[in-house]
Amino acid sequence: MSDIKTLGEFIIEKQSDFPHASGELSSLLGSIKLAAQIVNRELNKAGLVDIIGASGEENVQGEEQQKLDLYANEKFKTALEARDQVCGVASEEDDEAVVFSKELNRNAKYVVLMDPLDGSSNIDVNVSVGTIFSIYRRVTPVGTPATEEDFLQAGKHQVAAGYVIYGSSTMLVYTTGNGVHSFTYDPSLGVFCLSHEDMRIPEDGKIYSINEGNYIRFPLGVKKYIKYCQEYVPEENRPYVSRYIGSLVSDFHRNLLKGGIYLYPATATHPNGKLRLLYECNPMAFIMEQAGGVASDGINRILDMEPTELHQRVPFFAGSPVMVNHVEKFIADFS
Ligand code: AHG
Ligand code: MN
Ligand code: MN
Ligand code: MN
Repeated sequence: MSDIKTLGEFIIEKQSDFPHASGELSSLLGSIKLAAQIVNRELNKAGLVDIIGASGEENVQGEEQQKLDLYANEKFKTALEARDQVCGVASEEDDEAVVFSKELNRNAKYVVLMDPLDGSSNIDVNVSVGTIFSIYRRVTPVGTPATEEDFLQAGKHQVAAGYVIYGSSTMLVYTTGNGVHSFTYDPSLGVFCLSHEDMRIPEDGKIYSINEGNYIRFPLGVKKYIKYCQEYVPEENRPYVSRYIGSLVSDFHRNLLKGGIYLYPATATHPNGKLRLLYECNPMAFIMEQAGGVASDGINRILDMEPTELHQRVPFFAGSPVMVNHVEKFIADFS
């Protein structure tokens, strides 16, 4: 028997770890896996078919939507609606949450929040992009249409979260609160195979990921931390290494594997930072904590935040505990 373990086999084997489901999670993740395979296929030929470039539309964030933003958004919503576990989806690309009206969806127990395509600015230049998803049990009665209350839940109530990274290989990384597990897609078999069980981020690291182009607009404590990273102190492994791709999923995944910190602070033009709490920061914070890391807004734990609106933004610092605690101290000392 080959030692290949597929995502489906792994979930069923670990099923007892997931208290809420009798196979519902495996079916829900199955629909996400299917949509990821479809998006992956289109991405791999994006240069050949008319699927790159701007769509000419703008999303509620005021961002120019890429064709692939919209393509991925539709594929994930269609895949999620087709099964009977999900009663609604909130997406970066839709102004409001999409409530599924079919009978089989109204009786579903879960809602999904997602960033269907993360790192869109990188599509046309063939740099890794991703999909981020976050899964909650609904809080309104089964059988009724989902309401905004089902989507505006604190991150600590997530039952599962994950991301797909469409890179040199396509990987799916997820947690249900029992560790972080990664699967690599094998296109010849059409399955995601277990590549890393129970991923743990190193306690400390020397990679920092931030858009230094915004330096002049950062809070003083963040500026001081960046200078600290750049000082020549060889006995403390400094200067650190600066790595920033501009796709949260890719920067996050590298730092999860090697140790490091990802920073998207508040700036003068973005007083709450740029990243969205519900479908970028919460799922990534859940994964980071499950891997032994830390995720905060520079002061407060991301997963404790009570959301007030679907697309709200929050400053985001996530990574090795020693590094995040250090930047939090700089922020406190210079606030
Ligand atoms: P999205 O493409 O889903 O809108 O997200 C883009 C995010 C994130 O992926 C990335 O880390 C960050 O924006 C890059 O922002 P800057 O270009 O401002 O550095
Ligand atoms: Mn976007
Ligand atoms: Mn994003
Ligand atoms: Mn996006």
